Amino acid sequence: MAFQIPRGTQDILPGEVEKWQYVEKIARDICKRYNYHEIRTPIFEHTELFLRGVGDTTDIVQKEMYTFEDRAGRSMTLRPEGTAPVVRSFVENKMYGNPNQPIKLYYIGPMFRYERPQAGRFRQFVQFGVEAIGSNDPAIDAEVIAMAMELYRSLGLKKLRLVINSLGDVETRKAHRQALIDHFKNRIHELCEDCQVRLEKNPLRILDCKKDRDHELMATAPSILDYLNDESRHYFEKVKAYLTKLGIPFEVDPRLVRGLDYYHHTTFEIMSDAEGFGAITTLCGGGRYSGLVQEIGGPETPGIGFALSIERLLAALDAEGITLPISEGIDCYVVAVGEKAKDESVLLVHELRKAGIVADKDYQDRKIKAQLKAADRLNAKFVAILGDDELAKEVINIKEMSTGEQMEVPLHSVVDYLKERLS
Ligand code: HAM
Repeated sequence: MAFQIPRGTQDILPGEVEKWQYVEKIARDICKRYNYHEIRTPIFEHTELFLRGVGDTTDIVQKEMYTFEDRAGRSMTLRPEGTAPVVRSFVENKMYGNPNQPIKLYYIGPMFRYERPQAGRFRQFVQFGVEAIGSNDPAIDAEVIAMAMELYRSLGLKKLRLVINSLGDVETRKAHRQALIDHFKNRIHELCEDCQVRLEKNPLRILDCKKDRDHELMATAPSILDYLNDESRHYFEKVKAYLTKLGIPFEVDPRLVRGLDYYHHTTFEIMSDAEGFGAITTLCGGGRYSGLVQEIGGPETPGIGFALSIERLLAALDAEGITLPISEGIDCYVVAVGEKAKDESVLLVHELRKAGIVADKDYQDRKIKAQLKAADRLNAKFVAILGDDELAKEVINIKEMSTGEQMEVPLHSVVDYLKERLS
């Protein structure tokens, strides 16, 4: 019986995985420069964490979680996102007591959402995300946004659009909530069933509805920006001023409300405007949260972060025709002819590898011609040919594949010779 991979998941095979490693390395380098430290949390958590942390009226919680009972009957959920787990860890490990505030964390790992798979949308996907917890300074909002933009830009993406909004504070959201209810309530039956439920539970999320996006009530809905109180407005002005100072272009969209419940003040998304990118254009989403740390059992502490999937990032690179500078091929392939030479080649590749040289040899008992072909297929920079004759003379033949140039080198100095030539 042949098995198939589950829908919405993918194998990342050699040839492709190098791109992932490259992107992850750049992401880690950026985090290091911005002084963010990696955190690794479990793949599954108590379901309750996401009910509270993500919000029980959100699509994620209502429709998309992979929830199961463990053998002791506890409800567990494969993490659909990283913010609630990071905040859980922040509280559980009492990071709020650390004098180095804000606590700046990042993560790279798989997330799980039971969504309808399509281009750019998977059921298992890898998020790179950051969370800065413990500061109310609008400069940290700009810092977090700058990090995401830096990742995309340093990989060569140009067709990017940063959209920002402010959801204000509790007072703002309350006033705006009432205005939304007043706006929609008489004609709510014209909107989808989900929106009818949202009117009661979380009217802000109506603005995020994909089905009713083009309904006239959407365009005329009260803008949150008109409900910002002085403090919230001042905060948003500061964030915008810092982005401008950092030379990061942005657009303001008062309808950017985001699909998770925990946001206050700044929210943002980065979209790809590349042609042929497909229907889903959001590469990255994030924002500021307050109330979340408290909801999860810690002292009231503000945070801000973003998450982006590597899947969508790679799709955006493809759409812009960008190839990553990934070095394919190996440094040296050792070709051995004859029984003694074969034995010796086992030691030689071992020595080369220990010296930091990417080396391989034949394990299929192939003839010399087939070994040379294998070296070619592996894109070897050098081929080291060892026959029993050379072995008797304690030398080895080195061929540089790009030039065809050949050299006879004493066997005892071949490692140094190759190191020198490769440097
Ligand atoms: P989110 O908007 O749900 O936010 O997801 C963030 C990003 O994850 C999206 O912009 C997209 O790149 C990627 N993503 C989401 N779902 C999928 C999927 N099914 N397939 C592929 N990629 C996907 C969050 O997750 C928040 N935790 C972000 C955050 C961090 N806010 C504050 N801190």
